[in-house]
Amino acid sequence: METIAPVGQPVPMFAGLPLLGNTLAFFRDPLKALLTLQRQQHRMVHLRIGGRHQYLVFSPEDSKHVLQENHRNYGRSPAFQVLKIFLGNGLLTSEGDFWRRQRRLAQPAFHRQKLAALMQTMVAETANWLDELKQADRQKSVNVSQAFMDVTMRIVCKTLFGSDVATQLDGLSLALDTLNYMANERLVSPIRFPLSWPTPGNRRFRRAGVLVDTFIYGLIHQRRQNLNDSGDDLLSMLLSTEDEETGERMSDLQLRDECVTLFAAGHETTAVSMAWTLDLLAQHPDVLARLRQESQQVLGDAKIPAPELFRSLTYTLQVVQESLRLYPPAWIMSRLALGDDHIGPYTIPAGATALVCPYLLHRDPASWSEPERFDPDRFAPGGEKEQLHSYAYLPFGGGPRLCIGNQFALMEMQILLAMLVRDFDIQPVQNPPVKPQPLITLRPNRPIRVILR
Ligand code: HEM
Repeated sequence: METIAPVGQPVPMFAGLPLLGNTLAFFRDPLKALLTLQRQQHRMVHLRIGGRHQYLVFSPEDSKHVLQENHRNYGRSPAFQVLKIFLGNGLLTSEGDFWRRQRRLAQPAFHRQKLAALMQTMVAETANWLDELKQADRQKSVNVSQAFMDVTMRIVCKTLFGSDVATQLDGLSLALDTLNYMANERLVSPIRFPLSWPTPGNRRFRRAGVLVDTFIYGLIHQRRQNLNDSGDDLLSMLLSTEDEETGERMSDLQLRDECVTLFAAGHETTAVSMAWTLDLLAQHPDVLARLRQESQQVLGDAKIPAPELFRSLTYTLQVVQESLRLYPPAWIMSRLALGDDHIGPYTIPAGATALVCPYLLHRDPASWSEPERFDPDRFAPGGEKEQLHSYAYLPFGGGPRLCIGNQFALMEMQILLAMLVRDFDIQPVQNPPVKPQPLITLRPNRPIRVILR
């Protein structure tokens, strides 16, 4: 006898214009559109954005289902194809067995003890950067979006490539940033000329690519010849790690792709998040005062405090965590459904995109009390966060594709923030408030400026 499969319910569709789907509503104010949808309390909605069928899940439980419990049903979404032009087949863009092997190889470089070795570099680079800030005109406001982009770029270059990079840092950082910026542009731009066309942009992209590759391959060859005296940087860790199962090491091409990926994934996110943090602190002098008290007490007044002291900065970490809640740089994550996925009465069909949105999870009144309020005590021991589902807070994603750099980023942000507030007062600039703009990362709609005294 023929059995009839139960028919699932249609997923609520967010009304939009015929043909264009929901593109226009999203184009106008995507975050507002998403928050409105969340308040309608659907379990899931079906959106048509840019001609693609996308299924947005809302709850921590369903987000966990997509990212972790049923992760085998999901691959990288088409958006990642564009990133491949720049990143190659690195950790962020690769899939399947290749990704699994690369992740296993790279993971040891991010273990706690290995990161401890990188702290010294982070603290020293931060101290140099603060010296430069102190030279600046104190009466004028500082574009901290740019300032943090500069320092996080230096930190990631130094921790990746070590001292070899010191004399070439500016050229290299600029070339890497050109690649990063142009890949971002291609991702959000509706018109994409093939890279083989000799447009000025494409020429710049290729020139930057050649410069970066020449540098990275040169360094890899040099290091391979002198493996014994390599330093503590990430490149030497990646060069020397062996697959526990096969004993294999990474090829030059894989190393190149991983280095460029770590650079790209590792600096803009941190910089954007630091800029948001200063914006919040400029508006919350009480939090700033408590933060400063902690940093002065723990770090004292040494120009380069001992790296182990930073572990005691518990309130600083809470401030960073709360800032990542309100403004998660990776505000949305997308996955391609490989087969049909059944979630409650609904189905995400094969070939569609599933969306998990940390921005919404972090502002969900079903999880957080007064979600719009900036309150670092949510992350204190025994605070609100401890009572929540683990997927109610996802600044670094979840499941097997969890951010490999999450401890690196938290450590870097703690160092930058503590050393900055120890030495500077932060005051707001009298401008209209900045608003989050959801591009690839959740950037402010214009650079954040504050007065640093
Ligand atoms: C505040 C800073 C950061 C945030 C918010 C952040 C967020 C994320 C998120 C949400 C993902 C998962 C994406 C997905 O599942 O689709 C991710 C992946 C990744 N992140 Fe981060 N990240 C940060 C800093 C860093 C740093 C400092 C590094 C490296 C030094 C890094 C390297 C990576 C890599 C390599 C991946 C891909 C991992 C994989 O798929 O195996 N990130 N990041």
